[in-house]
Amino acid sequence: MKSVRMPVPGISLGCDYNPEQWSPDVWREDAALMRRAGVDLVAVNIFGWSNLEPSPGEYRFDDLDEVIELLHAHGIKINLGTGTSSPPPWLSSRHPETLPVAADGTTRFPGGRQAWCPSSPVFRERALDLVGRVADRYGSHPALALWHVSNELGCHNALCYCETSADAFRTWLRSRYRKIETLNEAWGTSFWSQRYSDWSDIQPPRLALSLRNPAQLIDFQRFSSDELLGYYRAEAALLRARSDVPVTTNFMVTAHIRNLDYWSWAPEMDVIANDHYLDHRLGDPVAELSFAADLTRGLAGGRPWMLMEQAAGAVNWQPHNVTKVPGEMIRNSLTHVARGADSVCFFQWRASAQGAEKFHSAMLPHAGTDTVAWREVLKLSETLDRIGEVAGTEVEADVALLFSWESWWSAEGEARPSQAVTYLDQVHSAHAALRDLGVTTDVVAPDADLSRYRLVVVPGLYMVSDTDAQAIADYVSAGGRLVVTYFSGIVDERDRIRLGGYPGAFRDVLGVLAEEFAPLLPGAEVALSNGAIGTLWTERLRTTTASVIATYENGPMAGIPAITRNQHGDGTAWYVATKTDMSDVLREATGVMSDKSDTEVVRRRAGDRSYLFVINHGTEPVEHPARGHDLVTGESVDGVLTVQGGGVAVVREEIR
Ligand code: GAL
Repeated sequence: MKSVRMPVPGISLGCDYNPEQWSPDVWREDAALMRRAGVDLVAVNIFGWSNLEPSPGEYRFDDLDEVIELLHAHGIKINLGTGTSSPPPWLSSRHPETLPVAADGTTRFPGGRQAWCPSSPVFRERALDLVGRVADRYGSHPALALWHVSNELGCHNALCYCETSADAFRTWLRSRYRKIETLNEAWGTSFWSQRYSDWSDIQPPRLALSLRNPAQLIDFQRFSSDELLGYYRAEAALLRARSDVPVTTNFMVTAHIRNLDYWSWAPEMDVIANDHYLDHRLGDPVAELSFAADLTRGLAGGRPWMLMEQAAGAVNWQPHNVTKVPGEMIRNSLTHVARGADSVCFFQWRASAQGAEKFHSAMLPHAGTDTVAWREVLKLSETLDRIGEVAGTEVEADVALLFSWESWWSAEGEARPSQAVTYLDQVHSAHAALRDLGVTTDVVAPDADLSRYRLVVVPGLYMVSDTDAQAIADYVSAGGRLVVTYFSGIVDERDRIRLGGYPGAFRDVLGVLAEEFAPLLPGAEVALSNGAIGTLWTERLRTTTASVIATYENGPMAGIPAITRNQHGDGTAWYVATKTDMSDVLREATGVMSDKSDTEVVRRRAGDRSYLFVINHGTEPVEHPARGHDLVTGESVDGVLTVQGGGVAVVREEIR
């Protein structure tokens, strides 16, 4: 990413607004209420296509004109959707070939949203036609602050298996491999008689009778991410040709969507924007929020970013949709800000009365303004105003965690040592363990420059390139500290096993060698000699140059090393070969002895300005050493900051 271009100064408050669902008298009430709530930035026209082009070639912009003028008159900036996220019914009826096809070869029909094939030339032509018109009409409007391309590209339609996609996949493969023999080698097609002699025989990995070729599956993931990125580029190019306003799209850095490799998308954004919803299917949804915010900051190259969507209360798409208790939405929002967000936006402004999302919370609930939810929004708005001077500062972190979408795709292949071992579980556990120690972590790509970090954590990095593995080893040789967890370094980019013993790519730096994996059945436990327990995974490990920190006390691997430490050059590398409490290893590796599990402590800085965020997720007051001025309460802090249970503090620190 070049330089970050935030749409609105300060820490902005924003929302998605779907005026198509309401009458003009409601628009006027909404604009007045938005002003009352201090809303600075409103996303419109996200699902606008069927209103703007009700029948082919018939365009109606009057309603959108009126809404934009109304918001402008209220001093609100516009985050303008290109309107292409969901095609109107006429497009799907006239061009059924634009509909996506699932892996089993069945069509996904309209009636929901995003029912389009990312490779469809017909869809692209019609969508770009609309984008050009929207850009021509509003590109120089004084209220326009941000272009919002489509919406959550790939949320539902990332993987399409239709014939058009198959052709596009073949084109992508030809440009990646040039020669069919190179593809055969990369995909290991000698196995199960899969050798290709002609490009035209290659299909997308549709459902098969048995396990599919894992390398083909990974290339299909890569292709699908690139294909949608190509689509984003096409829209962005049109917008940039007609307007100087920054362009972005909303990412889904979240636990349940994984189809886009955002490391390759991020450089194309003028500002990184993410949608985040607390996921109550996870063990610790708030810890995941912190992780997602750190990863979003990683995508933003450490610079400020936007929280483009979050929920004021409950969502409607989880099996059990838990609402937020008073204070929780504010804590969630401040966690995002602490970790680098300079904009806090919601889906959506006014709760829908109809449609599939009528049970989704909003800033303005069905019950109106005499509600806890509305008062929370006003309180958040006031808080964001008070801490506005934080905008533009950057998060201080000297520990990095490596994250890779490619590794996620490949580690969770159809046939693997244990279905119970998942990439995100490893990543979340490592991140949460650091967070519990009060350590702020940058989440970065495997090819990131690691030199400034005092510790690099590599959870379950199953797939890693030679170059990245070498850079990680060099970082340690030069004095760095590294913690690697099990099922790392196993394959190269072709999903080919690194022979000679696991964890292939990291054997030398870790000074260990494993002969075989020995996953445990779910629910089984082994005792470790350090008093902890191990679950899910063990391996027949021996040390080559490492020393042993803990062994298994029982089970099939009794006496075998479970945790090791290796001196490599001037640095130290730990290996954790089972799922276990990592706090002791991380304490040793970071030198941090405290335990802050219920409190988040993060610092943002720029030049000689420093802001300390303390977010108390517990119910009891907590104390933290600080000196300065708490922007939230307006009180000065003289040595010890007390944050009430459930409270937040942002201290402008005195730097001596
Ligand atoms: C997002 C989407 C919004 C809304 C929201 C509900 O995926 O961008 O349009 O559907 O989820 O949580």
